[in-house]
Amino acid sequence: MKLSALLGGLTIFPTPQSVPKFPALGPTATRSVRTNNMLINPPGHPPTPHINAVTTSSFNISDVQAEVLIVDAAGFKRQMNMVIPTISTVDIMLDTSTQPTATFNMALSQSGLDKLGIHDNLNDTIFSGGQFADAPNLAELTDTWVSQFKGTSIHGVYITASDASDSLMQQNSAVQTVLGTTISVVYSIQGQARPGDQAGHEHFGFLDGISQPTIEGFGTPLPGQAVVPAGTLLLGREQDLMTRPSWATDSSFVAFRQLKQLVPEFNTFANDHPASISGMSQAQAAELTQARMMGRWKSGAPVDLAPLFDDPALGADPMRNNNFNFSHPGFNLSSNQVHCPFSAHIRKNVPRTDLNPIDVGHHILRSGIPYGPEVTEVEQQSGQTMLERGLLFLAVQSNIGAGFQFLQKLWINNPDFVGPKSVKPGLDPIMGQISGSARFTIGLDPMDPEGNTTLPMQFVISRGGEYFLMPSLTALRHIINS
Ligand code: HEM
Ligand SMILES: *[C@@H]1O[C@H](CO)[C@@H](O)[C@H](O)[C@H]1NC(C)=O
Ligand SMILES: *[C@@H]1O[C@H](CO)[C@@H](O)[C@H](O)[C@H]1NC(C)=O
Ligand SMILES: *[C@@H]1O[C@H](CO)[C@@H](O)[C@H](O)[C@H]1NC(C)=O
Ligand SMILES: *[C@@H]1O[C@H](CO)[C@@H](O)[C@H](O)[C@H]1NC(C)=O
Ligand SMILES: *[C@@H]1O[C@H](CO)[C@@H](O)[C@H](O)[C@H]1NC(C)=O
Repeated sequence: MKLSALLGGLTIFPTPQSVPKFPALGPTATRSVRTNNMLINPPGHPPTPHINAVTTSSFNISDVQAEVLIVDAAGFKRQMNMVIPTISTVDIMLDTSTQPTATFNMALSQSGLDKLGIHDNLNDTIFSGGQFADAPNLAELTDTWVSQFKGTSIHGVYITASDASDSLMQQNSAVQTVLGTTISVVYSIQGQARPGDQAGHEHFGFLDGISQPTIEGFGTPLPGQAVVPAGTLLLGREQDLMTRPSWATDSSFVAFRQLKQLVPEFNTFANDHPASISGMSQAQAAELTQARMMGRWKSGAPVDLAPLFDDPALGADPMRNNNFNFSHPGFNLSSNQVHCPFSAHIRKNVPRTDLNPIDVGHHILRSGIPYGPEVTEVEQQSGQTMLERGLLFLAVQSNIGAGFQFLQKLWINNPDFVGPKSVKPGLDPIMGQISGSARFTIGLDPMDPEGNTTLPMQFVISRGGEYFLMPSLTALRHIINS
């Protein structure tokens, strides 16, 4: 079986033959003879080589995403053809010595495919309609959206990434040279791994990129890791529920979202709502509140296994940090939230034994990277966000209505999910939203697990995004040669 897909400039399922790779775009962007790894690998991430390690969040990087308009379709196809021959067909990212200095990747929206004259029906109406039209399903007001995302005028996105800013600049100018006036960049944004010991952590401070599904037959799953059929993530593969044009096999749909995070406000909220455990300092109690909102401590340790205090050794151990399922001997799964609230972000998204049988139909592969500066002293003091920061979120799946959109619409935003339980869980306190209305959630305080908290605001504000087709190499060839 050949599995391949592009993800943030990387292949997620390496195979010798059909794996799309990292073109050296210009004369200067030659393959390096590297001695240092381009990918970050903080403790707690699954070891390389592994599906999880091969995502953009694993980069020590600068990562630029540029949303583009294709101005000259024929010219674009011709120029992309010049890029393709430089795409390597061996899996170079997992071996330090063969990693390029910078990566390049391209994904296309429905309007981009239209512009390029690709009229085959990919059989995903949510993709075809675009993300702006889907906002009501996400219970999202679009007044906070970046204006370029309002509508269907973005044809594609290219992503360049590198661990060195000069290589990234070289790569970006090489893209400019090759694609030149065939495209026009309508929006671009730079992501960056957070500094020092925060590498791999998102802006609220939590280690990200821990729990990802793996594909049946792709190595040995880590303890607790979900295993999905290839067709959950890749078009045209086992248990992809839809019929697709054959050229699209091994491509994926990607939901891109720019998610602004209000970090000082998130911290103020926790300080104002400390868990009421006696003997804990105020700081520990506030940290516990945040851990219960996420379902993990900042170290990555799951609250299901470390209910009262962070356990950094657990967070850093990929053999243990995902090996839990919310059930415990003597626990009543319908009422016991002492370890993990029903509404916690990770429990809303992957409810594990809350659903019987355990659900395998709604997994996504996440690949986010933080953007924006670190919180400043002034912001910390004032408790107010002044500079925009957040997460460039990418969700990969074969079916947007079963993946990203399903999770946001039917689980995250749904106060009754997961149920039936002894109490309605309320919203995911991290990501839940109901069109700007007040949000409530249950279970923040382990001493009052059915306590109902009204959240004063959204700590994550959507700036919009788009749905893209991330083509396999074969699919990209088809698109630009049609
Ligand atoms: C700024 C917004 C977000 C932040 C800060 C955030 C943060 C996190 C963190 C820290 C984890 C735990 C670490 C891990 O397992 O990798 C996590 C897990 C997860 N998140 Fe998010 N997330 C955000 C948005 C989203 C969105 C929009 C979705 C889906 C629509 C989502 C779906 C998931 C899933 C599926 C998991 C894995 C749960 C598991 O397998 O246990 N997240 N997120
Ligand atoms: C990223 O790479 C630079 C240069 O090699 C290094 O100084 C820095 O510590 C790295 N950062 C992370 C988060 O690994
Ligand atoms: C989409 O897939 C379904 C399920 O295989 C199939 O019944 C339907 O005909 C397909 N539609 C298109 C337009 O390919
Ligand atoms: C949940 O995890 C526990 C502890 O690892 C295990 O004994 C149990 O079989 C798991 N339950 C299910 C339904 O997988
Ligand atoms: C578990 O909790 C539910 C909801 O409170 C309750 O209806 C049920 O009887 C409990 N089950 C057991 C075995 O105690
Ligand atoms: C929690 O409060 C909200 C808002 O007042 C209300 O809509 C919801 O029904 C309450 N939930 C529970 C379980 O009491």
